[in-house]
Amino acid sequence: MISFVNLDIELNRKPVFSNLNLTIQPGELVFIAGKSGSGKSTLLKTMYMEIKPKKGELIIAGYNSRTIKKREIPLLRRKLGIVFQDFRLLEDRSVYDNLAFVLKVTGTKEKLIREKVMHALESVGLSDVAGELPIRLSGGEQQRVSIARALVREPLVILADEPTGNLDPDTSIEILEYLKKINQKGIIVVIGTHDYELIRHSPSRTLLIQDRSLVEASIREGATGFRPVPA
Ligand SMILES: Nc1ncnc2c1ncn2[C@@H]1O[C@H](COP(=O)(O)OP(=O)(O)OP(=O)(O)O)[C@@H](O)[C@H]1O
Ligand SMILES: [Mg+2]
Repeated sequence: MISFVNLDIELNRKPVFSNLNLTIQPGELVFIAGKSGSGKSTLLKTMYMEIKPKKGELIIAGYNSRTIKKREIPLLRRKLGIVFQDFRLLEDRSVYDNLAFVLKVTGTKEKLIREKVMHALESVGLSDVAGELPIRLSGGEQQRVSIARALVREPLVILADEPTGNLDPDTSIEILEYLKKINQKGIIVVIGTHDYELIRHSPSRTLLIQDRSLVEASIREGATGFRPVPA
């Protein structure tokens, strides 16, 4: 579960969010939508505790932003899978080693690493490129590798910041389908996006950033934008 209680977020003394209250239940897939500069990345960074809220509390994967210690942040991140627009793969090593690296740092045994890495690559349909360098793959394939890397530690939550921002519309939908499949296994998936077409393809709970706050929104057939869900 993810929970925000009376949360204020400031960046360099500039208020970005005020008084957020929100609960995301286990098993949910949620879009965070909003125009450029509205605060999608800020919200996701707050969830993986790169940004500390100014006021209130955020609870995620059993950790509370008010009480978490600095040395516990890496422990929290082990329970989260984070996916970025620009993939952030290590270019000097193979797809396999990109995933294995994540498990080596926590001292997982070689045989188990092999099982987990191949299982994660299978889940995004990429077991046959384990030996390739990421640069040899298409953008969509690189993003699938980055999703597999997020999965390899069996996270409770996947946080994806514009995961389709660098991809064409068909590939974007393919990536969304993989994220949905992951969600169907019970993992919370939060996707920050300004791509309304993506949401329209696969309507799901959508939180729209408006006036430093989040409103539940729905996208309607033929509509050009979002409208708040009537209470
Ligand atoms: N390090 C920072 N210091 C001060 N202000 C910042 C910082 N990072 C972002 N901001 C501001 O915070 C607001 C939210 O930015 P954020 O990057 O979260 O938006 P976004 O919705 O992710 O935008 P985009 O769609 O362009 O990625 C913007 O007004 C931005 O200028
Ligand atoms: Mg952003």
